[in-house]
Amino acid sequence: MDFYSLSTVLLVILITCLLAKYTRMMLEKAKLPPGPTPLPIIGTLYKMNLNNVVRSLMELHKTFGDIFTIYEGNRPCVVLCGYKAIKETLIDKAEEFSGRGYFPLFYDYSKGDDLVFSNGEKWKELRHFTHLTLTNFGMGKRSIEERIKEEAEHLIELLKKTNGSPTDPKLHIHYSVCNLICSVMFGKRFDYQDEEFQNLIHWLQDSFRIMSNPWGLMYNAYPWFMKYIPGPHKQLMKNYTFITDLIRKRVENNIKSLDSNNPRDYIDCFLIKMKKEEKNSATYYHHNTLVMSIMMVLFGGTEAVSNTLIFIFLLLIKHPNVAEKVYKEIDNVIGHRPPNYEDRLKMPYTEAFIHEVQRFADVAPLSLPHELTKDTQIRNYTFRKGTVFLTLLTSVHYDKTQFNNPTNFHPNNFLGEDGKFKKNNALMAFSAGKRICPGLSLALMEMFLFFTTMLQNFTIKSLVSPEDISIDPVGVGLAHIPPNYEFCLLPRSYSEE
Ligand code: HEM
Repeated sequence: MDFYSLSTVLLVILITCLLAKYTRMMLEKAKLPPGPTPLPIIGTLYKMNLNNVVRSLMELHKTFGDIFTIYEGNRPCVVLCGYKAIKETLIDKAEEFSGRGYFPLFYDYSKGDDLVFSNGEKWKELRHFTHLTLTNFGMGKRSIEERIKEEAEHLIELLKKTNGSPTDPKLHIHYSVCNLICSVMFGKRFDYQDEEFQNLIHWLQDSFRIMSNPWGLMYNAYPWFMKYIPGPHKQLMKNYTFITDLIRKRVENNIKSLDSNNPRDYIDCFLIKMKKEEKNSATYYHHNTLVMSIMMVLFGGTEAVSNTLIFIFLLLIKHPNVAEKVYKEIDNVIGHRPPNYEDRLKMPYTEAFIHEVQRFADVAPLSLPHELTKDTQIRNYTFRKGTVFLTLLTSVHYDKTQFNNPTNFHPNNFLGEDGKFKKNNALMAFSAGKRICPGLSLALMEMFLFFTTMLQNFTIKSLVSPEDISIDPVGVGLAHIPPNYEFCLLPRSYSEE
């Protein structure tokens, strides 16, 4: 056969295969909720604005309603929108929705050998262990409160050095938040000048930036193709390797100095468990699982809390009338002594403000994908085990049936008529159901204590007038990344003169 005939035959085979695959996909599509028509190879990519996928999904929500289907290549993904649909699934069918869907941006590195991207019994065991260990080390209790207070003092000392000159708070906030999670994982906090620590912050921040830009999103949707294309997404795997090398070094140090009767940190607790299960061939406790799980907790524990705090200060300078009320409450309830977490119970406005920032800033708009653990009936559809779901948390936080004028920033969303703090179940910044963020109580405590300590020490002055402050995120994807901005920090005593 000559070259021309061979090429023609190969082309016909290729087209036939593609057509067969496409026909199968369209037959499957008929059983799934509506959505834009997928095209061969690219799926529904043509409907996505890669600079703002969240906006594209919100547009599709308007067109197709609360449950619709998109395609990443030929992989269908069902999108859930609005409070009602997300409650009906993540909460009312919690067990069915407890699976984790494929998420190439992390999975391709950890291979699911970790707490966040594992499934089934392995996930249950690792989650239980992590929650228990973080609790023993004080998560939600006083000892972690002491650590946060100590870290907040270090943050104040660092910020005092800015001497009232214009400052971008991003890095300072990352230092404190990351250090806190390091103290729980590694048993010690780093000096802010430590080169290893500064590198760690850089790798974490850089990775989140890549994940929330078009390259990261393309990788997540089309990993089989993007693996062979050069671009910033290639840096991700390198960043993960740097981070895991650092963790491995810490683990080696702990192994050398381990005292089984006196665990110092998360690593020690895991090593003790590994020893106990040495003879169990089905154990989930392996060296690599430890390293990968710590990396995931460092990501979860640093980026989302830091980004929320950065938005907290941004929205504070954007709304001076709100800031005035928060300052007043801090002065009345706390005064000059260091803030305690229980002070929040007497500070409804500050509590409402922090919760409203969580709603409005919506730092994890797409949460992480869920996968069905068994065949499940939802409304008029029967979904097969393994179907992947995306929960669009933005559509809950901006759900008009749950919040008045959701596009406006309004702390009163979380205040009752009696002026008391009022919970709203439609705030799902930490998601809901069995996969709900296990760092929730730690994050809330950190945000309250870092925020109130900062305001107690400094008057925050914006460099521009409120109407000129942009609050638009600079990255939209896995995260809503806050924009860069500057403010001046004036020590409270001399600003009051
Ligand atoms: C404001 C701060 C935070 C926000 C907004 C946030 C948000 C989220 C969201 C939306 C998820 C996905 C839940 C789902 O799959 O449905 C998640 C999972 C997770 N977060 Fe957080 N998080 C925050 C802080 C933290 C902290 C401080 C830690 C560490 C102590 C942490 C560790 C994790 C882990 C390990 C998971 C995976 C849970 C699992 O798969 O079972 N997060 N978080």
